[in-house]
Amino acid sequence: MGRIDSLIAEMTLAEKLGQLTMTAADYAVTGPLITPLSEDAIRSGTIGNLLNLYGVEATRRIQKIAVEESRLHIPLLLGFDAIHGQRTVFPIPLAEAGLFDPVAWEATARVAAEECAGDGLHMTFAPMLDVSRDPRWGRIAEGPGEDPFVGSAIARAKIRGFQSSSLADVGAVAACAKHYVAYGAVTAGREYASTDMSEGMLREVYLPPFRAAVEAGVASIMPAFTDLNGVPLTASVFLLQEVLRGELGFEGVIVSDYHAVAELLNHGVAGDLAEAAALALKAGVDIDMMSDAYRLGLPVALERNLVTMDDIDAAVRRVLSLKERLDLFQDPYRRGRADTGTTAQSRALARDVGARSLVLLKNDRSTLPLAARKIALIGPLADAGSEMRGPWGGAGRPEDCVGVLQGLTEAGLDVRHAPGVPIEENDVSGLAAALALCADADAIILCLGEALLMSGEAASRAHLGLPGRQQDLADAVFEKAAGKPVIVVLFSGRPLAVTEVVSRADAVLAAWFPGCEAGHAIADVLTGKVSPSGRTPVSWPRAVGQIPIFFGERPSGRPFNPADHFTSHYSDVENTPLFPFGHGLTYGDFKLSNLRIEPGDPLTVKVDVANHGAHAAEETVFLFLNQKKPGVTRPLLELKGFGKIALGPADQGTVTFTLPAPTGRAELFVGPNADFRSMLSLSL
Ligand code: NOJ
Repeated sequence: MGRIDSLIAEMTLAEKLGQLTMTAADYAVTGPLITPLSEDAIRSGTIGNLLNLYGVEATRRIQKIAVEESRLHIPLLLGFDAIHGQRTVFPIPLAEAGLFDPVAWEATARVAAEECAGDGLHMTFAPMLDVSRDPRWGRIAEGPGEDPFVGSAIARAKIRGFQSSSLADVGAVAACAKHYVAYGAVTAGREYASTDMSEGMLREVYLPPFRAAVEAGVASIMPAFTDLNGVPLTASVFLLQEVLRGELGFEGVIVSDYHAVAELLNHGVAGDLAEAAALALKAGVDIDMMSDAYRLGLPVALERNLVTMDDIDAAVRRVLSLKERLDLFQDPYRRGRADTGTTAQSRALARDVGARSLVLLKNDRSTLPLAARKIALIGPLADAGSEMRGPWGGAGRPEDCVGVLQGLTEAGLDVRHAPGVPIEENDVSGLAAALALCADADAIILCLGEALLMSGEAASRAHLGLPGRQQDLADAVFEKAAGKPVIVVLFSGRPLAVTEVVSRADAVLAAWFPGCEAGHAIADVLTGKVSPSGRTPVSWPRAVGQIPIFFGERPSGRPFNPADHFTSHYSDVENTPLFPFGHGLTYGDFKLSNLRIEPGDPLTVKVDVANHGAHAAEETVFLFLNQKKPGVTRPLLELKGFGKIALGPADQGTVTFTLPAPTGRAELFVGPNADFRSMLSLSL
């Protein structure tokens, strides 16, 4: 008998349920009450996994109790949300998506994994793979944006980065792809609301990143809090057993979201905790995070014959196998040897990735790079280092984060700063002082946007304008500028609906939340040390009423025609986004030409790219397909590839894609974003 089978043979029911329980470190659930962590529960083997504890000393101490003082010496599994970095905070995932660079995506995950492992962790609840087309939903900040092809590419890169070539590697942690599935489509963008969609849409848009994660060998998966088509994911036999385990072949651990098993009572599908626990276990949820439904409910469910001991043993086997794959039995202390914090190397990566995640939305009359040296730096996000982390800042310390004021000052600019107004509060007492700075400056940089907690979990918004009195500040600055260039740097965890600010500014940089090196990264781009290359992975609406807005729409029988009233349109706003998916300017001036196909399967698609500008820069090129199928509509555009090319002034090169040969009629589009007007096309 192998180790796992002999352990299972020896375990009491309470010990088995301990392995199926994950509890926050500062809490242990005893009965229905949440009390400060009882080390006794670990000692007795009735809690087998923890979240929210990190650091060499703390993790060692607790692991030692499990390994040396529990009857069966089974090591704990320790998990944490390192969503975009652990000690070193990288740009939020939505911002990183805009790099369109699998090498960079993997590199930041690798550093995060090393830092997690250094901190004694074995699992990160990442990557978050929820495609979302609704910027009202705050968690769009944590994910890949609107497109499944991008989500799938990110899934592969992140899982390689987190899990390394073997989970047993000392610097590897188990990844947890979440939140399975379609959480990004909650009704009206409201957090924790239900979702309802056709199976076709599910398979076309929301499922592919999870399929890619399973193919990449992801160790665990977390079902979403939400229900889909009337069945909560935590209890969905169809989606967890049939699709995830059956069709996709996932053999790893399914860990519930926080308190999600008990929330089956609120969903109204379970009458008591025993029923909730039985539904989740039968659906395939192995670990109950924070509900204590398994420990309290499964013994009752066993008595009622709602579950069998075989169901419990199968889940225990998957949890113990993960611990074995992580090499925890062999050496439970191998991770947690050095919580070093950020390093010069990790910060250099954060600066580089941070700069490359910035999206230059607008740059009229080549306002950027900055020619001016005397800068009025205005706005509540100008000197806000700690906000730069964005939501889910891991274990990153606020004091490790560089704000814009520091970055521009260190870059040698002559900067005068005033916040003007706070981010959210209704207080304009600082307005006059900020406006006074404009007179003496050559250029004005306005740092506006959201606070870090306005996106992420439980952070849906119905208005996507500037919060607080920032619009008043912006209006006053535009008035006062008197022809001096006004550059807006926007911070947010989502696209904002700020059409008027964009139209009045000379240049607009979407900074999202760039992470701990924000100020340096932004200074690098504003001063021209780095040419911006980030592209928005999600469409920017002109108005909230356009949401959901995305490039993969299906055709209408009455496509918009300005000459015909009875065609698809709004009476008060254009159909198009303010900025399409993929939009992002550079300091170069790129032209695409000579789109061509070399036959075969896969097809080889090539396009020439020339930089006619005066600056070296990196261009991103997208390959889309429009397919025609008999009897069923296809999206107007489906993303099938992206590529990048760095070119000096007057240089040219070629971007090459491979594409599985489509069956039937199809048209191929290649361009710098999802706007048809910017693309070259070929019929296949
Ligand atoms: C709830 C969130 O939905 C999930 O993403 C996270 O991993 C868990 N809490 C644990 O913090």
